[in-house]
Amino acid sequence: MSHQDLPPLIPSPLPRLSRPYVVLSWAQSADGQIATRTGDSKYLSSPESLQVQQILRRDCDAVLVGIGTVLADDPRLLCRLSPEANPRNRQPLRVILDARFQTPPEASLCKTTREGPVLIIGAETQPSNNAENEAQRKDEETRIQKLLALGLEVIRVPIEKDSVPSRLKLDLRTVLDRLYQRGIQSLFVEGGSAVLTSFLRANLADRVILDISPRFIGQGIPAVRDLGVLTLPEARRFKTISVEHWGENVVWVMDALS
Ligand SMILES: NC(=O)c1ccc[n+]([C@@H]2O[C@H](COP(=O)([O-])OP(=O)(O)OC[C@H]3O[C@@H](n4cnc5c(N)ncnc54)[C@H](OP(=O)(O)O)[C@@H]3O)[C@@H](O)[C@H]2O)c1
Repeated sequence: MSHQDLPPLIPSPLPRLSRPYVVLSWAQSADGQIATRTGDSKYLSSPESLQVQQILRRDCDAVLVGIGTVLADDPRLLCRLSPEANPRNRQPLRVILDARFQTPPEASLCKTTREGPVLIIGAETQPSNNAENEAQRKDEETRIQKLLALGLEVIRVPIEKDSVPSRLKLDLRTVLDRLYQRGIQSLFVEGGSAVLTSFLRANLADRVILDISPRFIGQGIPAVRDLGVLTLPEARRFKTISVEHWGENVVWVMDALS
């Protein structure tokens, strides 16, 4: 496939929603793992199917990952398509779900703010009445100031009610509301496992695009974890839109059944 005729992967026009249209896409092994148990995920995509990620970064207004992916892969999340394939050099707003503002100042995202904006979404401050929490809050404020000085934007949203202190989950509906308020009409959720699971669990995926490699990993990092599904009627259901070979990988596009 030449760079000129890379196909669109999101509908045009987008369906009318009062939140961004959400596309989940990831590369996985045939047995559903997005990385080995040591965290190696480079490259489950074929050279051809790697373009899926690049097209989505070009065509969606924003791309979102969790802090786990930032720490594991240090991605830049920029569109690297050639000028012929991305003539207006469109770059997405890069969004990180990072409840406790742990994005390292030396991360590639922090070094590329001139190439496109980066938004860190953290948790609203929790009420505290002990000295240890107060010290943590001060450390967090110091980390935020460093990120702001590097040119990143920072906002806070509430956490989900079922969050545990060791793993704070940001409320995704509020995240989407805040993105929509700033004009984001389409959002590419790129990973990792915890974030993909949260979007599916909350029924917030409009389209899923799987980039499937013909290899088996066995025990690794599964793309999707517990969705709370106990019986088949509770499973999240999608309808197939297309299935194509992109090099040795199969790219499977599916839409949520409404
Ligand atoms: N093959 C692919 O296409 C692909 C793509 C991306 C990533 N990956 C792989 O995925 C792995 C990382 O996945 P991961 O599950 O460890 O991390 P992740 O999903 O990238 O990030 C999870 C973290 O995001 C924060 N978070 C905030 N709100 C959340 C919410 N509502 N739901 C879920 N998480 C929320 C939490 O941070 P706190 O714990 O601080 O609260 C959580 O621990 C890496 O190995 C990476 O290589 C593969």
